[in-house]
Amino acid sequence: MKNFDNVTIFDHPLIQHKVAILRDEKTSMKEFRELVEEITKLMVFEAFKDVPTKTVTVKTPLEETTQTMVADDAVTIIPILRAGLGMVNGVHSLFPTARVGHIGLYRDEETLEPHEYYCKLPDGIENSIAILLDPMLATGGSAVAAIDFLKKRGCKEIRLMNIIGAPVGIEVVAKAHPDVRIYISTLDRELNENGYIVPGLGDAGDRLFGTK
Ligand code: PRP
Ligand code: URA
Repeated sequence: MKNFDNVTIFDHPLIQHKVAILRDEKTSMKEFRELVEEITKLMVFEAFKDVPTKTVTVKTPLEETTQTMVADDAVTIIPILRAGLGMVNGVHSLFPTARVGHIGLYRDEETLEPHEYYCKLPDGIENSIAILLDPMLATGGSAVAAIDFLKKRGCKEIRLMNIIGAPVGIEVVAKAHPDVRIYISTLDRELNENGYIVPGLGDAGDRLFGTK
């Protein structure tokens, strides 16, 4: 795959360890959900070293001190339904007051084209970094559609977080939206004839929510 400036692939062994368990077909729904949350937290911790901050004054039992805290409304969490929902708590564990917008998209099983069915975003999103969440980046169609939508709604800074990405999906998003930073925990080999990432982990939404 071509190298893109705005694409970060985490090759961290602690993340890879969790992804290995996530892939396993024997991993239970509960464990799958917990792992998605934990991996997301590790990714966000690394991807937001440059989060906007504010300076505050804190009085300790000994003296007053000037400290750094995360700026108000620094980020807004945007899960792509359904599977992106599984990543929300992982971001909230680091940004507990972040507001959440939802974008509902499903992939047509035949054409693999994304279809929008729901969208609700908080006001003021244009002044916040949008953290777009989806565990799977396959053809890239859903991510491109979600980013198009966020930009139309005035979002100026968007960071896409995926747990598993296929090379084609990364290229499609990076070419369509070169300003968007893309963070992926693991790069997989390819898509199969049904548009599934291989080796992958199967259908992320089904594994998170126990559907088939
Ligand atoms: C999955 C996944 C992404 C999309 C990725 O969702 O969560 O949103 O497919 O595929 P793409 O990169 O080719 O667009 P799906 O459409 O299965 O919906 P679901 O989360 O409701 O199951
Ligand atoms: N969506 C998934 O949930 N899994 C894939 O492998 C591709 C798209």
